[in-house]
Amino acid sequence: MTSDVEVVVVPDAEAAARDVAERLVAAARRGGHIAFSGGSTPRRAYQLAVELEPDWSRVDAWLGDERCVPPDDERANVRLLRETIVAGAGAPPVVHPVDTALLPDEAAGLYHAALIGVGFELVLLGLGSDGHTASLFPDAPALDEREALAVAAEPGLEPFVERVTMTIPALSTAQEVVFLAVGADKADVVRRAFAEPPSRSTPASLVRAVSGTTVAVLDRAAAAQLP
Ligand code: 6PG
Repeated sequence: MTSDVEVVVVPDAEAAARDVAERLVAAARRGGHIAFSGGSTPRRAYQLAVELEPDWSRVDAWLGDERCVPPDDERANVRLLRETIVAGAGAPPVVHPVDTALLPDEAAGLYHAALIGVGFELVLLGLGSDGHTASLFPDAPALDEREALAVAAEPGLEPFVERVTMTIPALSTAQEVVFLAVGADKADVVRRAFAEPPSRSTPASLVRAVSGTTVAVLDRAAAAQLP
């Protein structure tokens, strides 16, 4: 097992969502910058988080990655955040969306500029079945980025729309990097990300908090192939 990651295994997806919701709430109460993940898995965690804590006014909310679609498109990660935490909060966070009306390179450049000086209290990440996290896809040039905090990226999986993604230098500033993965179809990638040596073919294995903690919150099915 990779010793730089604390692995938390809970019985099912609902318990995993609750664990992550509690971590988000703790970060929201401390106040500061949080990077939210997209995809489908975190929706329940966001719903529970805003039920547990209505006051998100001390939070600056960012997207670890975004699909280059209009903000009201059902594939937009910002839409997930707006439908859950923003809609449910008595006092919403300040949201920092990626400007997807721009070309991806321009949008990434603006996101990079906005991120200068930001240190994340918490970065939440998902895991794709190909090993990607945020929109850092296997063997992609974005994995080599050492200066820019956000870059444009080509999708490696559905939805096949261009992306803007935070880079490893941006994500790894977090006090707490939290991966959330549930379900048997994530078991293989969970093993590659957390129990095998870091590899460009599994980008999630390359993202670790450099001066904080990295946690993987998994249900039993997702953890099934861990040693
Ligand atoms: C995205 C993501 C991505 C996601 C994983 C897992 O915008 O596509 O942020 O990294 O977290 O693909 O997605 P699911 O939760 O839908 O399995």
